[in-house]
Amino acid sequence: MAKIILTGDRPTGRLHVGHYVGSLKRRVELQNSGEFDKIYIMIADAQALTDNADNPDKVRENIIEVALDYLACGLDPSKSTIFIQSMIPELTELTFYYMNLVTVSRLQRNPTVKNEIKMRNFEASIPVGFFNYPISQAADITAFKATVVPVGEDQMPMIEQTKEIVHKFNSVYGEALVDPQILLPDNEACLRLPGIDGKAKMSKSLGNCIYLAEEPEEIKKKVMSMYTDPDHIKITDPGKLEGNTVFTYLDAFSKPEHFERYLPEYANLDELKAHYTKGGLGDVKVKKFLNNVIQEELEPIRNRRKEYQKDIAYVYDVLKKGSEEAEKVAAQTLSDVKAAMRINYFDDEELIARHIEKYKEQ
Ligand code: TRP
Repeated sequence: MAKIILTGDRPTGRLHVGHYVGSLKRRVELQNSGEFDKIYIMIADAQALTDNADNPDKVRENIIEVALDYLACGLDPSKSTIFIQSMIPELTELTFYYMNLVTVSRLQRNPTVKNEIKMRNFEASIPVGFFNYPISQAADITAFKATVVPVGEDQMPMIEQTKEIVHKFNSVYGEALVDPQILLPDNEACLRLPGIDGKAKMSKSLGNCIYLAEEPEEIKKKVMSMYTDPDHIKITDPGKLEGNTVFTYLDAFSKPEHFERYLPEYANLDELKAHYTKGGLGDVKVKKFLNNVIQEELEPIRNRRKEYQKDIAYVYDVLKKGSEEAEKVAAQTLSDVKAAMRINYFDDEELIARHIEKYKEQ
């Protein structure tokens, strides 16, 4: 069976380092591994509208930002098909049919949706489209017959929901859909990179993100202001690693060669951690090291982004061509689905012949 990747992001803002370590970096590695037959990367504008219905311009303006971030990270249009969700009308049609296979109570149990409903104050009145987005996400994944979906941990319930829809569909209508596997980051820190304030999630509204396109001075300011151990007051005090954002970021970003370059007194992160917990190592020194590490990682991304920013017409062309290609694939799946569901009337000669026969004698 072909190995196919599908994943994507809602275009509601620029992408940040949480997106990067949680998914983007991995996508580029998977792309360059050459192990996959097809890679689809979707800018999920229709899904973004499910909770931004009254703010279409936000979604519209951020499509190019997300596309630039993708290209800046190294997604390569000659290897990966980058496209816009709403350009593929087949996805809405698939969603409509899958809706028959899911109950309201099942949707209500989705923990990510539950959490988002709370965060958006939707408790009193949930938009139907928003409530339904896990089903639409199942359409995104199955339309491309994806076998692997690399995403962050918060997307796990969507993939579970997708698998249930696939099993239900295949058992009711016959095998037409492919069962996808989730691919999570293998590094614990990358799974849930906190904001610079130590809060659980990076979010634009909390103002606690480091963006991929951020300028060096801004990155430094943010790193130097990061949340650490509030009880680590004097340098000689023993420090705590748990909940210490600077060390979580080092877990996500640092490699042994960074120590050689920027902090040769320590062989690796374990030695640095040991010194910190024993006492005698100040936060500023650790933060300066982290700043060097993040600067090194983000510099080539920022520079590549600036190159693509000079040719926005090219980026739109990438999205247009990608969307055209993606639509062909989704159309084939929709046709398979409709045949399985027995709602393909005009190309079923047997059906028409049988009905002719049925009414011949009148
Ligand atoms: N829900 C994802 C997010 O919040 C975006 C998304 C939409 C997606 N459809 C998808 C991710 C299909 C993976 C597969 O960013």
